[in-house]
Amino acid sequence: MTSTPLRINGDRLMRRLMALAQVGAIDGGGVCRLALTDEDRAGRDLVVRWMRELGLSVTIDRIGNVVGTRVGTSHSKPVIIGSHIDTVRTGGKYDGNLGVLAGLEVIETLNDAKVVTGHPIAVAFFTNEEGSRFAPDMMGSAVHQGALSLETALGTKGIDGATVGDELNRIGYAGETPVGTLRAAAYFELHIEQGPVLEREGLEIGAVTGVQGISWTEVTLRGVSNHAGTTPMSMRVDAGYVAAEIACFLRRLSREYGGSQVATVGHVTFAPNLVNVIPNHVVMTLDLRNTDEATLQKAEKAAFDFVDETAKAEGVQATRRTLARFEPVDFAPEMIDRVEQTARSQGLSVRRMPSGAGHDAQMFAPHCPTGMIFVPSQGGISHNIREFTEPAQLIAGANVLLEVVQQTARVD
Ligand code: GLV
Ligand code: MN
Ligand code: MN
Repeated sequence: MTSTPLRINGDRLMRRLMALAQVGAIDGGGVCRLALTDEDRAGRDLVVRWMRELGLSVTIDRIGNVVGTRVGTSHSKPVIIGSHIDTVRTGGKYDGNLGVLAGLEVIETLNDAKVVTGHPIAVAFFTNEEGSRFAPDMMGSAVHQGALSLETALGTKGIDGATVGDELNRIGYAGETPVGTLRAAAYFELHIEQGPVLEREGLEIGAVTGVQGISWTEVTLRGVSNHAGTTPMSMRVDAGYVAAEIACFLRRLSREYGGSQVATVGHVTFAPNLVNVIPNHVVMTLDLRNTDEATLQKAEKAAFDFVDETAKAEGVQATRRTLARFEPVDFAPEMIDRVEQTARSQGLSVRRMPSGAGHDAQMFAPHCPTGMIFVPSQGGISHNIREFTEPAQLIAGANVLLEVVQQTARVD
């Protein structure tokens, strides 16, 4: 038992964050480490090296999740600190990386102070949290927790035609450890908020209450390409027009529903994609999210009905494919309390809030007590090279993580 509470080494945390951000760095200060690319491999190699330097025993499972474990006095299940190090194509330095590197900082702080915990503590990074290259998102943690089969995940084709299994083999991260063998006593994730709430309210910490439901659908529209100058408007079978109507409908729908309802068309491809040819083939994605499952289902039905009706009216053929579907999850009340009380006890301002973004934590929540800590995002900007959080705010979040992990790792 130490008399003064431990604090993490902020400079060391920032050094690791900035070093990892060099891997796959892109112009403007951003990062591109799409899942299972060469850049992802290089990021993984660096973090695994750090894990080994800290004395963690490292395992890699068959979906490429990496777990580094520090022993405790008890041979019980570990308290897992997790997140991800893959990024979207236009990512920043902090999304996911903060949670993993703050985990390493917790370990190094405990090592330096020679603190022995009851439960083991494990730091994990999960494969393909972002889902930008291979859907669904949270793929590695979903497989880890049994929400997605390993076979389905390994066979998933990405936006570039590559498959998860092949890419895992190619980058050397198709591990031997069977998935699902590691269970957690509890799970914590520190993450940037990725939204505007904490900054707007001048608060330092979010005690996350849960994660909203996510529905991703790929819509394919098949029309007839024809001459843009000679084809009368009444004779067109224009897949591009239907896509545009769908995008506008989703904006209207989210405005009409209000509350937490959000809707995004983030990806559209037109073919043949030429100035003077009516598009005959469109692939587009719909991203719908709501904290309430019934409302999310209502939004899905409204969107899908609109796709079908608008396509039919134009003579366009529409097909739909689910890319990801996760119901909203609630975190354990005792973990939300623990985060909130710890932040207060460290003199930090805090509020409870749901998460708008998806997180690996949501895969753990149905199976073990799970908590998340948010720190502010400047301008509410994320999935953008301009993503930024003040070092002092990152360090404050990591100190909350250190304390809640120590409390949870006690064995009575
Ligand atoms: C994952 O980061 C998501 O919320 O899209
Ligand atoms: Mn993330
Ligand atoms: Mn993200």
